[in-house]
Amino acid sequence: MGQTKWRTLPSRRSYLKLFQSLVLAGLFYFSSGIIQMTKPVNDRAVLSCDYNISTDELTKVRIYWQKNNSDMVLSVVSGEMKVWPKYRNRTVANIISNPFIVILGLRPSDNGTYTCVIQKPEKGAYRVGHLTSVMLSVTADFPVPSITELGNPATNIKRIICSTSGGFPKPHLSWLEKGKELNAIHTTVSQDPQTELYTISSELDFNVTNNHTFICLVKYGNLTVSQIFNWQKYEPTASPFNQSWLWILILVVGISVIIVIAVFCYCCLCNRPAARWRERRKSGESMEMKTISPIVSGSAEASG
Ligand SMILES: *[C@@H]1O[C@H](CO)[C@@H](O)[C@H](O)[C@H]1NC(C)=O
Ligand SMILES: *[C@@H]1O[C@H](CO)[C@@H](O)[C@H](O)[C@H]1NC(C)=O
Ligand SMILES: *[C@@H]1O[C@H](CO)[C@@H](O)[C@H](O)[C@H]1NC(C)=O
Ligand SMILES: *[C@@H]1O[C@H](CO)[C@@H](O)[C@H](O)[C@H]1NC(C)=O
Repeated sequence: MGQTKWRTLPSRRSYLKLFQSLVLAGLFYFSSGIIQMTKPVNDRAVLSCDYNISTDELTKVRIYWQKNNSDMVLSVVSGEMKVWPKYRNRTVANIISNPFIVILGLRPSDNGTYTCVIQKPEKGAYRVGHLTSVMLSVTADFPVPSITELGNPATNIKRIICSTSGGFPKPHLSWLEKGKELNAIHTTVSQDPQTELYTISSELDFNVTNNHTFICLVKYGNLTVSQIFNWQKYEPTASPFNQSWLWILILVVGISVIIVIAVFCYCCLCNRPAARWRERRKSGESMEMKTISPIVSGSAEASG
């Protein structure tokens, strides 16, 4: 129907519509043998047309890359390349001999089936000469979540946080203990508009006076990642007393040390003058004894 329009440069919309119907028709016949490709997010994907263009064909063929039979990616018409906005600045193309494109910085939304259509002029019209499809899966796996302690919002209550980021699709987080789901106090999910990747985190409060084994479970798509957090209870009613006992002990030891030091110093400082005084007294006594010895002896004699 539109073969003539192809030759007379149609408006962009009809161009695209026509092209799609052509490709769909093409897919109907060539639907077997779709190449599968799995790449991690941010990686690059090399999508090949899997077709050798001869040198004399080079200026005559038209190459189209489209996604999911609906979105244009890239076209090469009359040797002129056009890249659609979503792929601009991150798609390079080789159009010589075996045409291929490279999509850089893969995003989760790049998931899909890419089809290379090579059209050749035939009796004055362009017809599909070759068709290749590549099914691209972009994976964005969440790393194993990490659980960290956030302190004590109340006596005997501890708060922990579980978080992970860099995955796709949108995750769901749950806290489990003995197979039972617990109520998180605060769960946030955010998506980076550029990379389309998600970050999730969730906080949980628990009573420290019991043993606990918590599982932080993150589900996304049909995949899950999880982390376990074990808690060993404090000795019953020991926590506040333990500390006061420690303080009392420190206080008692401190006071004892101060007393010992004080006594020691007192002895050191006071013993010296006392000894001197005793010495002086001794020598004074002997002098006195010399001078008044007759009296003393006399008195001694008298008393004796
Ligand atoms: C393309 O040409 C190369 C050699 O230049 C050959 O090895 C390859 O098999 C050819 N591929 C196709 C699809 O014809
Ligand atoms: C591509 O890069 C140029 C300059 O680096 C910028 O001006 C343009 O907006 C970019 N286009 C897209 C679609 O990101
Ligand atoms: C913690 O648990 C103990 C016993 O299981 C209970 O007596 C205490 O009230 C709880 N503490 C809080 C803050 O819920
Ligand atoms: C998960 O889902 C993908 C498609 O979304 C599917 O290809 C894959 O087989 C599924 N895996 C499991 C284990 O169900």
